[in-house]
Amino acid sequence: MRKNAGFNGLILCFLLPLLSCSRADLKLGFYYQSCPNAEKIVFDYVEKHIPHAPTLAAPLLRMHFHDCFGCDGSVLINSTVKNRAEKAAVPNLTLRGFDFIDEIKGLVEEECPGVVSCADILALTARDAVAVIGGPYWNVPTGRRDGLISNMVEALNNIPAPTFNLSTLQKSFASKGLDAHDLVLLSGAHTIGIGHCQFFSNRLYNFTGKLDEDPSLDPLYAANLKKYKCKTPTDTTIVEMDPGSFRTFDLGYYKLLLKRRGIFQSDAALTTTGATKAKIEQLVYGLLEVFFNEFGRSMEKLGRVEVKTGEEGEIRRHCAVVN
Ligand code: HEM
Ligand SMILES: *[C@@H]1O[C@H](CO)[C@@H](O)[C@H](O)[C@H]1NC(C)=O
Ligand SMILES: *[C@@H]1O[C@H](CO)[C@@H](O)[C@H](O)[C@H]1NC(C)=O
Ligand SMILES: *[C@@H]1O[C@H](CO)[C@@H](O)[C@H](O)[C@H]1NC(C)=O
Ligand SMILES: *[C@@H]1O[C@H](CO)[C@@H](O)[C@H](O)[C@H]1NC(C)=O
Repeated sequence: MRKNAGFNGLILCFLLPLLSCSRADLKLGFYYQSCPNAEKIVFDYVEKHIPHAPTLAAPLLRMHFHDCFGCDGSVLINSTVKNRAEKAAVPNLTLRGFDFIDEIKGLVEEECPGVVSCADILALTARDAVAVIGGPYWNVPTGRRDGLISNMVEALNNIPAPTFNLSTLQKSFASKGLDAHDLVLLSGAHTIGIGHCQFFSNRLYNFTGKLDEDPSLDPLYAANLKKYKCKTPTDTTIVEMDPGSFRTFDLGYYKLLLKRRGIFQSDAALTTTGATKAKIEQLVYGLLEVFFNEFGRSMEKLGRVEVKTGEEGEIRRHCAVVN
């Protein structure tokens, strides 16, 4: 029986390859015919608004990363009774990012109702926001479909924690088809944006439970953070991840890593093996353009993780709710 079912399945696959057995792929300009202005609407909105709110580029990029540990727009879905706590935990800046995406989606829907997915809009917006602040530009092949399940809790559980070490980070990335090179490059996104003290205050106040600091953090930097930013173990102040140039996409983050000044354990972890450290040194002593190109290639790869295409999922009308 089992064999037969498999055999029939095989025949079905053979007859209906486009429907069920081969997955449609993303492609550049997927909306070229169905909504020719879609990408322009996104870009124009970003170009108009990001210069007045440049700190939004970071949460938009981060949101795309979080979404892409599934790449189906599920990060945008509003809380339900079940997962309310998760979205409530998302910091304010990120919440501003949700409004931004909803605005753009509204404009795109006016032009072509029910055609362009929220997952694509998020991928395009993140790319354009980074480009508008002077960062790298990368290709965003489109054709993603939106997920039907508001599985934010699961999605968030998938996302690597700032307390991860190199092996848990690599494992997390590998589960999405991303290697150590992608890990080092994509972590470079921490050259923009902020982090809240609560995500690393253990490194300042109680690293091993003996009221000690994390020895892998520069003690001078730790003292400074304790004096001016994270003044108590429960402080929730925000800290620029690349102080002084947290709005500029540059090599500052990698330079900090080599000075043992990355704020999260997951940042510091990248200098704990020869291979990842060598990559960081190569980036720091290389051209900005090389970082931009390699970052862009890893972003394109990230943008393909577990996408839904073809007939899967749906095109959500409002990014915050499943149709
Ligand atoms: C490698 C594993 C990663 C970990 C553990 C991690 C963790 C974090 C944490 C804890 C924050 C601070 C959030 C807050 O306090 O509000 C943060 C911020 C940020 N992350 Fe990551 N991240 C990782 C990888 C990435 C990747 C791959 C990207 C994008 C490609 C990214 C982009 C950002 C950005 C732009 C911010 C700043 C957000 C803002 O300014 O609001 N991160 N990350
Ligand atoms: C968000 O902003 C409001 C008002 O500025 C503040 O009361 C609240 O604590 C902030 N929430 C987070 C998670 O930062
Ligand atoms: C990394 O973290 C995991 C899980 O906490 C732990 O089992 C492992 O021993 C750690 N690896 C290193 C090299 O510290
Ligand atoms: C430090 O960590 C230990 C072990 O986790 C805990 O028992 C202790 O209460 C912590 N101390 C403070 C001041 O947070
Ligand atoms: C989603 O939640 C936000 C914040 O609570 C709210 O402003 C917005 O109207 C909601 N969107 C939808 C479509 O329900």
